[in-house]
Amino acid sequence: MPVKAYDLTGRTAFVTGAASGIGRASAALLAEAGATVHCADRDTQGLHETTALIKESGGTAHPHLLDVSDRTQVAAAVTAAAGTSPTGALDIMAAVAGIMHSSPVMETSDEDLDRVLAVNFKGVLYACQEAARTMLAAGTPGSIVTMASGAIDTGGPGLFCYGVAKAAIVQLTKTLATEMGPHGIRVNAVAPGWIRTPMTTRHDESAQAHTESLMVRMTPLGRVGAPEDIAHAVLHLASDAAAFTTGQILRPNGGVAMPW
Ligand SMILES: NC(=O)c1ccc[n+]([C@@H]2O[C@H](COP(=O)([O-])OP(=O)(O)OC[C@H]3O[C@@H](n4cnc5c(N)ncnc54)[C@H](O)[C@@H]3O)[C@@H](O)[C@H]2O)c1
Repeated sequence: MPVKAYDLTGRTAFVTGAASGIGRASAALLAEAGATVHCADRDTQGLHETTALIKESGGTAHPHLLDVSDRTQVAAAVTAAAGTSPTGALDIMAAVAGIMHSSPVMETSDEDLDRVLAVNFKGVLYACQEAARTMLAAGTPGSIVTMASGAIDTGGPGLFCYGVAKAAIVQLTKTLATEMGPHGIRVNAVAPGWIRTPMTTRHDESAQAHTESLMVRMTPLGRVGAPEDIAHAVLHLASDAAAFTTGQILRPNGGVAMPW
């Protein structure tokens, strides 16, 4: 028998970055748990594939084509999604969309930094604000899950822009958790380790194999992560199983980093 705390029947969820990788796996798992899932991304084809996947499995999904770095587009899609919910509010927001960028600090341009912060930080901020706005207006509780990264725990050559955006997501998550707690709205972050997705897949197969064998050697659990590993963390935080958890960072990383 399914564990009741993970049953999302009747809940309305919104997932950004749902056309690929971790976002797609999260949208599919939230739908499998019973939620109506609004899938948002800028990739039309990927969005179509995700919603088709969910529908083929008997779930309910709606696509929203948008750029998360555009507040107006995010607000319009969240408002439309909330309008389909019985309460008039979202119950769950998973702000997953993001891009990779690598450049040494000394070679990073203003344009690089602005672009990465616009998508990886402001895109998450807009999703959080718009979701919380619907919950506050309806007076309903909810769960917001942001997507940080193991980059918050380690430095690394080239990780400046990406890491700054992910660190900012952690600060946003903690601050918003304190402000929204009194309203019954929980806000938590997931900080995945290295996960095999299009973001981490290179065209050069031998370079890919080299990176993966390095990751396997560094990881106590002895394998690289799959998008489903992270989707389960998202499901946990989105569900009533995490009813007393807010302002926290969950690190599904195979044990590669173990901060206090
Ligand atoms: N893969 C990893 O190892 C890993 C590790 C830690 C954190 N993360 C984070 O997980 C999240 C998902 O990454 P992934 O590995 O699934 O990557 P992915 O490239 O497979 O998926 C990212 C999705 O975000 C979408 N997206 C990007 N920019 C967008 C925009 N401006 N507007 C709308 N959609 C946009 C893409 O179209 C894509 O569908 C990212 O935030 C990433 O930083 C990934």
